[in-house]
Amino acid sequence: MTGTLKTSLSKIAYWVNDVFPGAKSLIPKSLHRFVLLRIVGMNDQYENMLRRNPERLFLQNEALPWVSATYKQVLFVGTAVYTYQYERLFADDPNRYTTIDRNPSTKVWGSKHHIVAPIEQIEQYRPPGFFDCIVLSGVLAYRIPEHGDYGLIEHDDLRALLKVLHGVLRQGGLLLVGWNLRDMTQSLSQLGLLEPYFAPTDKTPWGPRKEFPGDPHVFEFYERR
Ligand SMILES: C[S@@+](CC[C@H](N)C(=O)[O-])C[C@H]1O[C@@H](n2cnc3c(N)ncnc32)[C@H](O)[C@@H]1O
Repeated sequence: MTGTLKTSLSKIAYWVNDVFPGAKSLIPKSLHRFVLLRIVGMNDQYENMLRRNPERLFLQNEALPWVSATYKQVLFVGTAVYTYQYERLFADDPNRYTTIDRNPSTKVWGSKHHIVAPIEQIEQYRPPGFFDCIVLSGVLAYRIPEHGDYGLIEHDDLRALLKVLHGVLRQGGLLLVGWNLRDMTQSLSQLGLLEPYFAPTDKTPWGPRKEFPGDPHVFEFYERR
């Protein structure tokens, strides 16, 4: 598609969104995604990140395929234009992959079972012990002030969140936490916030923690007590 045509179609798409905000809910998700990806070009800005960032390559090529092969019911927290492909890893049974995001505009990137709500309220949507694994990446301490987007960072809030996640995970289930060290220098484990709900686990191919030399991202793995 030529640049001029793409720009014009993109303007039309934004205009339709502004003038008929409810229109999005009337069109099929596949068409909505097509418009955002192919016409608006929403993913173009993330191309480098998706191909080169070591933590992104780890998440999409190693961690999530392993999670999908190892755990049945999986919850992925925080959806974005660059996360919708992850549902393919659960194509064998889309009923075992749930996504959640508090921002209604990211619903289009969610799975068949997407929840629009803060993760802090997940207990209102799923019964105790429902999940075998929860992937909490890019959510803690994540901040885009210009979007009004503030991730959880206060210790009391983090403790409360861990209690809620403990409630919807089965005993022995896995909590995978990924974050940027620039936003939060110490992990939930180093901050002493895991007790009594979780403990670091080395029952993953990467042990209890995965780091990336020269990159500020890190993942830690916790087992539900
Ligand atoms: C940087 S994106 C991370 C996307 C994805 N989790 C990943 O790691 O690739 C952050 C997303 O998390 C969502 N988010 C932040 N705090 C949240 C919360 N407390 N509950 C649910 N979603 C949240 C934001 O709305 C945003 O869409």
